[in-house]
Amino acid sequence: MAEVFDVVYVGAGPGGYTGAIRAAQLGLKTAIIEKGPTLGGTCLNVGCIPSKALLDSSEHYAGALHELAGHGVKVKDVQLDLPTMMGRKEKIVKDLTNGVAYLMKKNKITHFTGKGKLVTANQIEIAGADGTKQVIDTKNIVLATGSVVNELPTVPFDGKTIISSTEALSLPAVPKHLVVIGGGVIGLELGSVWLRLGSKVTVLEYTDHICGAMDLGMTKKLQTIMAKQGMEFMLEVKVTGAKSGKGGVEVSYEDIKEKTSKTITGDVVLVATGRKPYSEGLGLETLGIERDKRGVVNVNDHFQTTVPNVYAIGDLIRGPMLAHKAEEEGVAVAEILAGQSGHVNYETVPGVIYTWPELASVGATEEELKAKGIEYNSGSFPFTANARAKAIGMTDGMVKILADKTTDRVLGVHVLGPRASDVLAEAVVAMEFGGSAEDIARSFHGHPTLSEVMREAALAVAKRARQA
Ligand code: NAI
Repeated sequence: MAEVFDVVYVGAGPGGYTGAIRAAQLGLKTAIIEKGPTLGGTCLNVGCIPSKALLDSSEHYAGALHELAGHGVKVKDVQLDLPTMMGRKEKIVKDLTNGVAYLMKKNKITHFTGKGKLVTANQIEIAGADGTKQVIDTKNIVLATGSVVNELPTVPFDGKTIISSTEALSLPAVPKHLVVIGGGVIGLELGSVWLRLGSKVTVLEYTDHICGAMDLGMTKKLQTIMAKQGMEFMLEVKVTGAKSGKGGVEVSYEDIKEKTSKTITGDVVLVATGRKPYSEGLGLETLGIERDKRGVVNVNDHFQTTVPNVYAIGDLIRGPMLAHKAEEEGVAVAEILAGQSGHVNYETVPGVIYTWPELASVGATEEELKAKGIEYNSGSFPFTANARAKAIGMTDGMVKILADKTTDRVLGVHVLGPRASDVLAEAVVAMEFGGSAEDIARSFHGHPTLSEVMREAALAVAKRARQA
């Protein structure tokens, strides 16, 4: 008799591999299919991890150039060794993707290498890179194939001078002028890397603000700080085309306010205008699995597609395209399949932009609360008044807490500041517990720590911050 799996995860990104581990822990006979040579998906291979490695390395470089002298550390002749920086990044990726392979083995998850395609609701064909094909049987399927870059039809990639985030993580030299199309997460993070390493960076953004739907007040502050670092922003411009020539790439755009057409030339153009769900060749049509116009797979509250034993998670379905959101969904499906009540609380998904300072958010923005007519109190506190931030020498930014006017329940928290990603964590826990601003204010915060800014902002909700 052919082996029958309880569940097969298609795609080994954070959603797939984390879900598979949970399924195996719960005693389900589990397999994972991955078309790439390494596990970990976009996040580990060409996304979150390599970008953070370069962000940290470039921060050290910029720090050595501009900050160390102020700490009384004299460094002569600071030089960039780009191949070593890239090598370090690649080693981090290799260690982590090998780590995922180890976790698959440790949890006795069968790992198939090849492209998975649904044949029936209980059979998946796996096509290897060498042309071999095999079909496996399973009771349940979890689609976790993620997303791909959204190519602008008017600015097609050439992989060298017109590039996506993937190539921007491995440029062979520092561009003189990097033109970034899109002032979202990728544009700002990778723009920061090359700005710190010496590029002139110009960001062209279609809307009148950067960072998409994040809290407007905070994104405006971030833009001001990044402009001081040297990043140039052109807002309300619609890119209409690009032409490569000897002098670089000429990007044409429409100035929406002025209603004029203009051009800007860079030697490299990074297109960072979003991503789209990836389900090409997955066989969804064969089974009649429904998608919306943008290719987002429709699922119910239990992550079931229109075929009940075929589930979908992560970037393939609605919600933010974030690794940690996919992980929670992968785990929730495993728990549902094991008879537990797997659940994801979408009210508390944190979002982080790893610029310097970082911008981290959870819950509602002021704009969302106003639009819904929810009355709230707002408390904020700056990092300039925080002892630890002063000692580190990183005082840009602030924490803002939004709490229900009547109940004081925390509705949203926005942190712009040093290591905002880590500072935010306690706010996520507080919201998960339905906590109030007073709960945060009355909790101990070690002194001196950056986290004290969170406490002061919580006190400020009741207008009783002690400093500033
Ligand atoms: P994004 O959706 O964050 O930003 C795209 C930006 O491009 C938007 O501001 C949009 O208005 C602008 N845009 C679109 N068309 C344009 C045009 N023709 N001309 C000028 N501007 C235009 O998308 P991004 O940065 O590509 O990131 C993709 C996904 O990857 C995001 O959904 C994000 O969640 C995820 N990601 C998350 C990271 C994190 O959590 N730190 C890091 C990197 C990516």
